[in-house]
Amino acid sequence: MFKVPPVSVARLPALLRKMPKAELHIHIEGSLEPELIFALARRNGVSLPYADVESLRRAYAFTNLQSFLDIYYAGASVLLHEQDFYDMAWAYLERAAADHVVHAELFFDPQTHTARGVPIESVINGLHRACVDAASKLGVDASLILCFLRHLSEESAFETLEQALPLRDKFIGVGLDSSELGHPPEKFARVFARCGELGLHRVAHAGEEGPAAYIWSALDVLGVERIDHGVQAVQDAALMQRLASDRIPLTVCPFSNVKLRVFPDLQSHNLGRLLEAGLMATVNSDDPAYFGGYLNDNFVQTFAATGLLAPQAYTLARNSFEASFAGEVQRHRWEHQLKEVFESFSEHDY
Ligand code: ADE
Ligand code: ZN
Repeated sequence: MFKVPPVSVARLPALLRKMPKAELHIHIEGSLEPELIFALARRNGVSLPYADVESLRRAYAFTNLQSFLDIYYAGASVLLHEQDFYDMAWAYLERAAADHVVHAELFFDPQTHTARGVPIESVINGLHRACVDAASKLGVDASLILCFLRHLSEESAFETLEQALPLRDKFIGVGLDSSELGHPPEKFARVFARCGELGLHRVAHAGEEGPAAYIWSALDVLGVERIDHGVQAVQDAALMQRLASDRIPLTVCPFSNVKLRVFPDLQSHNLGRLLEAGLMATVNSDDPAYFGGYLNDNFVQTFAATGLLAPQAYTLARNSFEASFAGEVQRHRWEHQLKEVFESFSEHDY
């Protein structure tokens, strides 16, 4: 066991920023900054219901998940060509590299684009090319997870899977996102069973706004390996036991939870409680262009608000590697780099 050296509160933000980490819950369409939305709208001749960047930003006042999703899907309407998807992913990956993200698993929503007549090949090939370039040019290891929109039908999800299968080698898994309430995981039991047969990794959003029961069914009906969000697990003691004993990762997104009013403020966030209960929580940005910050902002502000310290920083970064779908050799290399950074911050150096 690595003994985390003492690090003063004053140096904690620098440590949080510098430590290597993995991001496992980022919707790439949620990384579209207003400036890029307007640049792509101009490039593609798409008209937007907002006069300029400032008025679009002013609309980012959300009251719940659905109020966000309405604007998020409107923002994605500027994406038409393979290069647009590349540019969006590249912009995120450059920011991720600056945050010392060494590994990222990017969610994407093909149905948001195919419904507008965009070929799925343009979506996947553009995103994948950015991931390939990120490895060689930024030193960021990145892969793709295809998400089904849960407000759409099972039939639409199956159709999307069929369209994507010729590009099977360009994504590593599937997820489930969009409007949670009223769309329980059971709706996609057969699609996820098929994805399991195909050897795809499986994850699902559950327990963001929805009840703990959705976390149980994501695990037991969909067979997921990770839960996205999962913060409602605290409502159910037996579920907390299950998540801890099976070491099921939760990809927690503090800024998102506050912006979408799952918690009233960062101080009230239950990240610390999840860690104390022995759950394998990780920190993620979800939709950074909409929620006020990227991964390091989430780490620094959540730690400042909740009083978490260096031992929790180490646990969260190590969890991010353990919970990732990266190979064992790579994971161990990053864990080693993580220890080196912590040692370099040791107060004993003074
Ligand atoms: N799609 C993008 N962000 C999401 C979130 N936080 N929950 C569900 N679906 C999403
Ligand atoms: Zn999400």
